[in-house]
Amino acid sequence: MCGIFGYIGSQQACPLLIQGLERLEYRGYDSAGVCVKDIDLQVVKQEGRVGDLKQLPSVSKLKGTLGIAHTRWATHGAPVKKNAHPHLSKSFAIVHNGIVENHGTLRLMLEQEGFEFVSDTDSEVLAHLIEHVYAGDVVSAVSQALSLVEGAVGLAVLSQEYDSIVVARRGSPMIIGVGKDELFISSDAAAVLPHTRSVVYLKEGQIALLSRSGYEVVDASSGVSVHPEVERISWTLEHIEKGGYPHFMLKEIFEQPRTIAEALRGRLTDKGVQLSVDVSGVERIVIVACGTSWHSGLIGKYLIERLARVPVEVDYASEFRYREPVLSPKDLVVVISQSGETADTLAALRLAKRVGAKTLGLVNVVGSTIAREVDSGIFLRAGPEIGVASTKAFTSQVACLSLLALKLREDKGMPIARFAAELLSLPEKVSSVLELSESIKKLAEEFVSEKNFLYLGRGTNFPLALEGALKLKEISYIHAEGYPAAEMKHGPIALIDEHMPVFFIATKDSSYEKVVSNMQEVRSRGGRIVALVSSVDAEVSKLADHIIVVPYASEELSVVVNAIPLQLFAYHVANLKGLDVDKPRNLAKSVTVE
Ligand code: M6R
Repeated sequence: MCGIFGYIGSQQACPLLIQGLERLEYRGYDSAGVCVKDIDLQVVKQEGRVGDLKQLPSVSKLKGTLGIAHTRWATHGAPVKKNAHPHLSKSFAIVHNGIVENHGTLRLMLEQEGFEFVSDTDSEVLAHLIEHVYAGDVVSAVSQALSLVEGAVGLAVLSQEYDSIVVARRGSPMIIGVGKDELFISSDAAAVLPHTRSVVYLKEGQIALLSRSGYEVVDASSGVSVHPEVERISWTLEHIEKGGYPHFMLKEIFEQPRTIAEALRGRLTDKGVQLSVDVSGVERIVIVACGTSWHSGLIGKYLIERLARVPVEVDYASEFRYREPVLSPKDLVVVISQSGETADTLAALRLAKRVGAKTLGLVNVVGSTIAREVDSGIFLRAGPEIGVASTKAFTSQVACLSLLALKLREDKGMPIARFAAELLSLPEKVSSVLELSESIKKLAEEFVSEKNFLYLGRGTNFPLALEGALKLKEISYIHAEGYPAAEMKHGPIALIDEHMPVFFIATKDSSYEKVVSNMQEVRSRGGRIVALVSSVDAEVSKLADHIIVVPYASEELSVVVNAIPLQLFAYHVANLKGLDVDKPRNLAKSVTVE
């Protein structure tokens, strides 16, 4: 999704801006642009990749030590040059993340005042609005403009008159990177990391003025100065580089033995489960999330209900926030989000807090909005996930949900030793599954031209079937659906023929025999079968065209081991198709609009 980067200091801004945009590419975008201030505000923008922008001769001519830049993920207006940011008014250039919801009304008002619009975007309204209210003080103008705007705004503004950048945060994150005699801004810590690890996370409703002598932060509504803490980013640059892998996604898949171990580190000890989470008096858990995080939430329901006998509901954040859910202070609302910035999940969290429910966040990105706003949290500790398709964050989410289930179980005085031991054995099992990568690549070669795929599983492996299908569709553009295996005969079975391959997750558990019967049903209708199993028996050998064997893991936790082949399969299919695995079309890493 959209990204902002900016610089003020003594170095030439343009190369730094381009480098900043490259760091933001993983978020997903369709056009990019920069504005450098020399005597004038000079803007160059382009649809397509940052690499295309970089090649433009006009970019190499941009001179100046102050600038802002943007990657745009189209919402209002097609992904074409005129809609790319920065947007200009007479004396300001702006870049904007978020959505101006009342842009129609504001546009009409500004047009009546004589302002001319050149783009179809909601964001251009901000440039003209600031111009309209400007009376000599840029911070006041931004503050006044924002008071007229409805919606989410992460904003950076350059003015023709002053050597400064004004940034604002309302509903969309903004970070100031504090270097030695230079300052950076970004919507994402990953982009400032090559320059500094000292950052200020602007809080909701704050505006900052960055000049050559430093920065000042004010609360937009009161105008009162605030003195935010400078925090240290603990990630290193190495964490966000590819480390010899052709794609971030593959690197992240292979990191999982370490990231799962990291999620568990110090949290399971002789004294029990060590989580700073108060679960006393919790009578019900409501899990809210989107996409892959929603899938891990579904797995969490199985785990918590089975291990701790606490009722769990799981909802899409986008539905939860508008369906007037019934909540009470005895509910624990668990929000799951890799990025910690997903707009719907954040709105769901705020709703839960408003009605007095306890909230808990399972978040990967430290310093993200959700991480800051939850009552308590369990960090995933997966490190930066750059590939748009979530992989290591998913297995870390399941590991953390397992810890939560064990904590609830422990609180009820039930034994946890067996499950704890199982959890701790996962990194080693995942390591051995990763050795299957080459054979899964061969399997992928056979299915690279398919148009459809069905994924089936039961128990925790049903949500995993959903996740396997999501992984395949989002990066390979092959249509794929996941179902509980037994549901197949209630509809999807009509689709089964030789053009509908079926991926069965059939590792040994209490429903294994039933899943094998479902395989039989597919086989007898001419369907082709890939079976993911933990041991090969005569029956499966007869039914399946391809078999992937993974180490046995308990019914509750097999899902972590089983996730790996599904991720690898999707990766290899997409890569064999020559697709942009890390930045699939139309998708954004961090979905900051609803
Ligand atoms: O950052 P979040 O976990 O809140 O993101 C939620 C979804 O947008 C995300 O999981 C998305 O579905 C991924 N592309 C899945 O690979």
